[in-house]
Amino acid sequence: MTDRPITTTDAGIAAPSDEFSLSVGVNGPLLMQDHYLIQKLAAFDRERVPERVVHAKGGGAHGFLRITEDVSQFTKAGLFQPGMETPMFIRFSTVAGELGSPDTQRDPRGFAMKFYTDEGNYDLVGNNTPIFFIRDPQKFSDFIHSQKRRADNHLRDNNMQWDFWTLSPESAHQVTFLMTDRGTPRSWRHMHGFGSHTFLWYNAAGERFWVKYHFRTNQGVANFTDAEAAAAVGQDRDLHIRDLYNAIKSGDHPSWRVNVQIMPFDAAADYRFNPFDVTKVWPHADYPEITIGEFTLNRNPDNYFAEVEQASFEPSNFVPGIGPSPDKMLQGRLFSYPDTHRYRIGPNYLQLPINAPKSPVNSYNKDGAMRYANSTDPVYAPNSMGGPVADPALFEGENYYVTGEIMRAANAIHAEDDDFTQPRALWENVLSDTDRAHLVTNIVGHASAPEVTGDMKKRVVEYWTNVHKDLGDSVAQGLGVQ
Ligand code: HEM
Repeated sequence: MTDRPITTTDAGIAAPSDEFSLSVGVNGPLLMQDHYLIQKLAAFDRERVPERVVHAKGGGAHGFLRITEDVSQFTKAGLFQPGMETPMFIRFSTVAGELGSPDTQRDPRGFAMKFYTDEGNYDLVGNNTPIFFIRDPQKFSDFIHSQKRRADNHLRDNNMQWDFWTLSPESAHQVTFLMTDRGTPRSWRHMHGFGSHTFLWYNAAGERFWVKYHFRTNQGVANFTDAEAAAAVGQDRDLHIRDLYNAIKSGDHPSWRVNVQIMPFDAAADYRFNPFDVTKVWPHADYPEITIGEFTLNRNPDNYFAEVEQASFEPSNFVPGIGPSPDKMLQGRLFSYPDTHRYRIGPNYLQLPINAPKSPVNSYNKDGAMRYANSTDPVYAPNSMGGPVADPALFEGENYYVTGEIMRAANAIHAEDDDFTQPRALWENVLSDTDRAHLVTNIVGHASAPEVTGDMKKRVVEYWTNVHKDLGDSVAQGLGVQ
């Protein structure tokens, strides 16, 4: 006997052998009664859950959020009160590639955070970009299909991507960002994160504000050029997972400042553009960033599958003091995430340790596949049996008046609701000469793929000319379009 533990079945029964199946004679056929073999093969057959339909490849880490400033006049959310420290989990990801795809491909990066607050889970599921490609959830699956693989040859297709983008001019701001070197970050530690949408904050007096979140990396921004990113794929497809894991393991804990922009509730109606349009940023001249705290990542997952693969983020998880804005994209996301988790993980995904809140759960929901923490009696509300009761007062402030005609429409009622003003400002005022030069070569490289047709190249030039004539001219020259 050794002092090592004995292998068991998943039912805890000592295993008969780690090497040999139960057979009739040494070379004989195997027996149905070898329950250990059957359990082992069956468990293996079921090892994978479906990968995420988007953001399949990623990595994550545990950490904590610490609030240093007093923003109680804007929100009563417990996690944002001065001095509060809240445990959190973050998952970074690429968007379009599959589970095994390289980390360094040109793509936005997911920046998904789960805060285990005393008032339940607060999830902020953002990207490393402050904006998005589209502004209506009606277009989301079409957009994603254009970035994924073709139906016939199962290949990604740049012609298809430019087809969608040039027919969707609202994408120009995000595609500009994507085609700069920020589309190929050096590591997840070296990029900013954003909540991207506008959210509602309300304070203890029920007063409301609109807020945007910015997470500023303390490691500094560092990107690859297109050529460096391509070379990195050949050396290490898992570069970003490895970088984060090794940094944390060696005690080099990355951190980000937590900044917010706050707009008075009533300023939204006649702002110069729709402040709920996720294709727009709020200029800092109008609403400066205020630092309210910092978060630090200090612990690697023990088990990738349990903690990263099964992590289920949902933009619909708000705590009292925070709520959704009318941003149509955000509204669409409120449905989509819990829906995909029920399909991908199962209806009781919130009972898994990585997803379960650290605060008490007093829900009347019960039963369902794989549920183990069932509610106790009484199992219905209202009841006179002493069961939990809801507290509407917690959400006073989330209520506001909305009216309007039922319609399907784009926003075009503010002076600057157009699609090109903001990407043009990025080109003119924000990008350096080097950034601009790389933007042009990155676009030209992408639109020079063999599948991109001559007609599409003309549309690509027109798209960039709408952003800025100089940019359009440079792209035309690079693509050889007259
Ligand atoms: C993942 C839908 C827009 C950021 C996902 C997933 C779905 C989805 C179904 C897979 C979730 C999973 O299996 O766990 C949508 C829809 C959108 C939308 C319907 C628009 C209507 C956005 C936007 C952002 C974003 C605007 C960023 C601002 C993310 C991130 C993940 C993700 C970071 C990965 C979460 C993780 O790490 O598990 N999205 N998405 N999505 N989405 Fe979206």
